[in-house]
Amino acid sequence: MSTTAGSTAGPTADPTPRRAGERVAAVVDLAAITANVRTLLALMRGSNPAGSVMAVVKADGYGHGAVAAAQAALAGGATWLGVATPTEALQLRAAGVDVPVLAWLWPPGERVAPALAAGVQLAVASRAQLDRVLDQAVGAVPDIHVKVDTGLGRGGVGPAEIGAVLDAVAAAQRAGRVRVAGLMSHLASADVPDDPSVPEQTATFHRILAAAADRGIDPPLRHLANTAGLIDHPATRFDLVRVGIGGYGLNPVATPVPLTPAMTLRATVALTKRVPAGHGVSYGLTYRTDRETTLALIPLGYADGLPRAASNRGEIWLAGARRRIAGRVAMDQVVVDCGDDPVAAGDPAIVFGPGEQGEPTARDWADYCGTIDYEIVTRIGPRVPRRNVGEAIP
Ligand SMILES: Cc1ncc(COP(=O)(O)O)c(C=O)c1O
Repeated sequence: MSTTAGSTAGPTADPTPRRAGERVAAVVDLAAITANVRTLLALMRGSNPAGSVMAVVKADGYGHGAVAAAQAALAGGATWLGVATPTEALQLRAAGVDVPVLAWLWPPGERVAPALAAGVQLAVASRAQLDRVLDQAVGAVPDIHVKVDTGLGRGGVGPAEIGAVLDAVAAAQRAGRVRVAGLMSHLASADVPDDPSVPEQTATFHRILAAAADRGIDPPLRHLANTAGLIDHPATRFDLVRVGIGGYGLNPVATPVPLTPAMTLRATVALTKRVPAGHGVSYGLTYRTDRETTLALIPLGYADGLPRAASNRGEIWLAGARRRIAGRVAMDQVVVDCGDDPVAAGDPAIVFGPGEQGEPTARDWADYCGTIDYEIVTRIGPRVPRRNVGEAIP
């Protein structure tokens, strides 16, 4: 299934010249991120003219580079940034990013004083976390987001503790020791068409908001939706949507939205050779050539984030065609069987990209490997240099 429906960012496929000797590069189209966020903000504003977008840039911006992705998303109209850990938030601050940042995953023993001092807002999902914020805040009154579990069964205050946590938050608020900037939850299955959990979680979220209001907690930002919620479930939009994957141009639902995948993973053929029929290829010799053929060595492997599950399944765009990986994905390299096509060392190859030339997309790679495109882009390793193109224009 295609992950895109049109493009708002113009031609993006492999727009940069390869550097001499370039082994591999992840080319990140920042203009695509800007355009994607602008598109998703317009969707939000369609039902809530005062609504806002938080660009989720955790995990190094889903592998795209957190700071560059953040700046590109802000240029597209995002006014918030979301990360998992306080450390990720501090990395944004260290790079000079001074917009509101929310971090939602931290153990109650973590030293959050530096994040609080840097004005990072923290999600609080337990009494222990609330106490930690109260203990570690110095100077300014911290802004918190109460994170509640409405059915995902993962982070967030659970149903047994919600009353007590809301009581404690209300008391801290009355004492002037915290400001409740937000109340948030996270959807389990917004990407599954017509999944009943979405309206159930939304109803639970409304009930918890009412329980908070009864205690005098009236947060200006109520936020529940991820990308899939924003696109397919308008009732989950509330005041703010936390958009991750869609900003990177990957659409988690079938509803067409004009998004452009921002990452192109490319490589340079390191070696070619003619081999006879019956020649084995790569560890375990799980592939044998069925005729005399040309093998091309592509110099990236599972250490670079190519899943080993793509062995004998994944495809790479090379010399105008998609070519299947022959044999196992190794740590640093894979081989493709090119038949009699003219392929030479030094030729450019595209592992995945927007799909505009016929190259596979990250979604295709997810399908080869039985996973999701989130995992494909996020796991591109640190050995792969990121090359940004398309300036983020504020
Ligand atoms: C709490 C929270 N909100 C929002 C997101 C963004 O989700 P998506 O990438 O599906 O838009 C994530 C990512 O997993 C998340 O953990």
